[in-house]
Amino acid sequence: AGHAGKVSKVEGDKAGLIDSIRLGSIATYAARRPSAMQLPQRLASFSYDERRALHHDDRSIRYYHAPPPQGDLNRGYANLVQRDDTINEHLDSLCLALMHLADAKGEDEERKRTNVITWRGMMTRLCTALYEKRSGFEMNAMVVGDTLYLEEHVGPRQAADKARQQSDDRQRRFAYYGYAFESYTCFERRTGPASPREHWDGDVNTNVQWCSIVRTKLGSSRLILGGEVDAVDPHDHSTFVEVKTSMQIRNERDESNFESKLLRFYFQSFLLGVQRLVVGFRDGRGILRHVSNYETLKVPRFVRGRATEWDPVACLNFADEILVRIRRRITEDQGGQETPSVFRLSFAPPFDEVTLRK
Ligand code: A3P
Ligand code: MG
Ligand code: MG
Repeated sequence: AGHAGKVSKVEGDKAGLIDSIRLGSIATYAARRPSAMQLPQRLASFSYDERRALHHDDRSIRYYHAPPPQGDLNRGYANLVQRDDTINEHLDSLCLALMHLADAKGEDEERKRTNVITWRGMMTRLCTALYEKRSGFEMNAMVVGDTLYLEEHVGPRQAADKARQQSDDRQRRFAYYGYAFESYTCFERRTGPASPREHWDGDVNTNVQWCSIVRTKLGSSRLILGGEVDAVDPHDHSTFVEVKTSMQIRNERDESNFESKLLRFYFQSFLLGVQRLVVGFRDGRGILRHVSNYETLKVPRFVRGRATEWDPVACLNFADEILVRIRRRITEDQGGQETPSVFRLSFAPPFDEVTLRK
């Protein structure tokens, strides 16, 4: 039985494998001609309400206002309402919003000529993979017409990881600090807080989100990306703001941890055309100590020359290569088949290759 088990494991590992893309060194990607990324253009926006119902409007938009000094990020913890994440939403709302847009315009050309459609979060993972040392990803991929659709794969392993995280009180508390910071900074009313006492948008309900869909281009691939936008500038609604929390910087180690996190913050914002990043630095007990504002496009300059430096050019070159390659491989593999197949993109320890399985 032991022997048979081994054989089937080997077969299992190879089963359906249609491509394996080895990650070159960061230097090789950095040395290539940079894959140009077009400035994202807005196509549409949509909202989720308190009950997670989808609306093709801006009812859940929020307006950024600076937080109160020393704000307590534990506020409202007992009243947290969280989205039911046992429900896999796939790419549904993104696709529904694109269908709604096509209905309104009376044509669907924009979507059909797009090479890749996915959530901004998936694209962030591809863009940061070269620097990833801890957590990989699994995605489902389909090519319909000329378009590659990518969604997160939530399998039993991913579900168990999530459940473990959520059963850890400390981790739950730290995650809450991020939501509380949103409630201190992202207001339903454009005018924001009238007095310091009102400096809180209300208890946190993570069902509520405002999302933007953009069109952009990376190298030769046309992309449509959708993702949550935390807030807009109350004086200029076309300026988007991403808010984040992070541990206050007390020593060199905190500083390099933060600089490494900026890689993710940068791509998360950049990919959706979010121009401003606001970071609330908190202490271990969730008290706000400091707030920093960054212009998204200047974030890479901030880490240049540091030990933790990361190179956005290498990241985009890698993401460009991988998108072109998997779209081509899937297209070749399915030939002219009527019904598209589903493929699995995996990136796991030791993080030296991305595999594509049917
Ligand atoms: P911080 O990232 O500031 O801690 P986002 O910044 O992407 O808009 O997310 C808002 C907050 O949601 C995060 O704030 C964090 O608290 C929580 N959050 C987002 N993704 C999470 C994840 N994968 N696991 C746990 N919490 C998450
Ligand atoms: Mg958010
Ligand atoms: Mg945020």
